[in-house]
Amino acid sequence: MTPEESSRAAERICDLAVIVPVITVDELSHAQPLARALVKGGLKALEVTLRTPVALDAIREMATVEGGVVGAGTLLTPKDVHDAVEAGAKFGVSPGATDRLLDAALEAGLPMLPGAATPSEVMRLLEKGYRVQKFFPAEAAGGVPMLKSMGGPLPQVGFCPTGGIGPDNASRYLTLPNVLCAGGSWVAPKHLMAKGDWAAITALAKAAASIER
Ligand code: 3PG
Repeated sequence: MTPEESSRAAERICDLAVIVPVITVDELSHAQPLARALVKGGLKALEVTLRTPVALDAIREMATVEGGVVGAGTLLTPKDVHDAVEAGAKFGVSPGATDRLLDAALEAGLPMLPGAATPSEVMRLLEKGYRVQKFFPAEAAGGVPMLKSMGGPLPQVGFCPTGGIGPDNASRYLTLPNVLCAGGSWVAPKHLMAKGDWAAITALAKAAASIER
């Protein structure tokens, strides 16, 4: 896979829904009902962070849910890439980017949303051919004004901002021309998962999926 192909695939992931849930699964038994609840609410691209011992098995389980496209987040190393692909992840997300990580993903054919937070980081990825990138940590790195400013000299890069985004500020990001979709954990909150309140999660997903671009 080339970086250009990776970016085209990342663009298609962003086209599935305006919000990509950033999911941390503590209990494997939550994986399938959670994925079903989010997909039912209209959120089809699901990012499972590799931050818990059950994350890879959660990807395996969620990948069986019809209508969902499951990816792996918090990819830091080539091993993470291989594990994610082996578990059935269809895309990868990373908080930043290293050459080793990017090369491993290209070799494995895993489309990436590689992270960048500054113009130089964005330019470095663009030079390699990645014109779809994750902007992380979105709020802490300057939020909407930062992305608006980057759209001046770097309009060819489309972003998925993530980090500190919620129902109150998501639409401000999504109306920017250089924002393709946004990521956030608010649609899969731990307290609702612990209670097994999947209907409430579907309601959060529905609200998120209908945020105007
Ligand atoms: C993360 O890496 O945890 C994501 O960026 C999600 O951030 P959020 O919890 O602020 O939505």
